[in-house]
Amino acid sequence: MHKIAVIPGDGTGPEVVQEGLKVLEAAAGRFGFEYQTTEYDFGGERYLRTGETLPDPALDELRGHDAIFLGAIGHPDVMPGILEQGILLKARFALDLYINLRPVKLYPGVETPLRDKGPDDIDFVVVRENTEGLYVGSGGFLKKGTPDEVAVQESINTRKGVERCIRYAFDHARERSKDNKLTLCGKTNVLNYSQDLWIRTFNETAADYPDIKTDYAHVDAICMWFVKNPEWFDVIVTDNIFGDIITDLGAMIQGGMGIAAGGNINPEGVSMFEPIGGSAPKYTGQNVINPLAAIAAVQMMLEFLGEAEAAAAVEAGIMHVTSEKLLSLAVGRMGHTTSEIGDMVAARVRES
Ligand code: IPM
Ligand code: MN
Repeated sequence: MHKIAVIPGDGTGPEVVQEGLKVLEAAAGRFGFEYQTTEYDFGGERYLRTGETLPDPALDELRGHDAIFLGAIGHPDVMPGILEQGILLKARFALDLYINLRPVKLYPGVETPLRDKGPDDIDFVVVRENTEGLYVGSGGFLKKGTPDEVAVQESINTRKGVERCIRYAFDHARERSKDNKLTLCGKTNVLNYSQDLWIRTFNETAADYPDIKTDYAHVDAICMWFVKNPEWFDVIVTDNIFGDIITDLGAMIQGGMGIAAGGNINPEGVSMFEPIGGSAPKYTGQNVINPLAAIAAVQMMLEFLGEAEAAAAVEAGIMHVTSEKLLSLAVGRMGHTTSEIGDMVAARVRES
């Protein structure tokens, strides 16, 4: 019995989560696994009502689940940063979700802004460190508000944190078995402390993976190559902030936020899966937003729950819809409503 915590969140989050759960139910029926869901109302509405973001007792409850399915966080009436830090980042740190796994895969029928590139060219995974670097909130002000103000924001990198992330990436490259290649994305030409630790750890760890080819690219160059030669990449490992930035670029070349999903993973604990687009407040309640990213998050969740066959069927369902049913992934041009898309994927999974 898989215990799944569901946080629909804000804006269009609940609508896309509903479609994800529809597909999960179809997969459970078809592949015969059992699950139970517990819903939590964390998000902007609850914060405005109670001042709470993600209370500590809730963290313990979340730890008691096998996975967390998150819709979207972000509310127009809440100051930017409060919900992101109070819910998303708090969950990442408190549950030690030290990997942010972001597949970048162009499905058939999906339009990419890259002319001359197709599904054979765009299929890689970014392994982003998710609990260190610039995200730890270390730093401070001196003489704040004066002309002499100093602001320091420190990037914290620990040997343990860097190594567990790099090992995960090597294991992932091996498991994925595509090109058996891992690229470290960094900035060793400028950041001589943090990136020195990263590349030393990368090279030392590589000795344990003689079957995996290794490669290095500066983060600025990787932005160029994502656009010019995305086919060069298999698995990429990088720090928190570089990973944040390059995965938005990755999401765009795979067709946009309507399709991109990610996993916040603690390989030894509970992991959290989400569509990586925002809460899109202006489309709330209109049944027009694309739920495929949320459905792809369910696919990732099933993989992590050990339901490989069900995950593959969900992916096949997504591909069926992108290649044969949708005019476009863009809001207003899909040719179907949010719930119709969920229905189509669920039906395909049931028939698989
Ligand atoms: C992401 C988001 C978050 C991040 C924000 C909302 C704090 O952009 O998941 O990539 O920067 O990690
Ligand atoms: Mn981001």
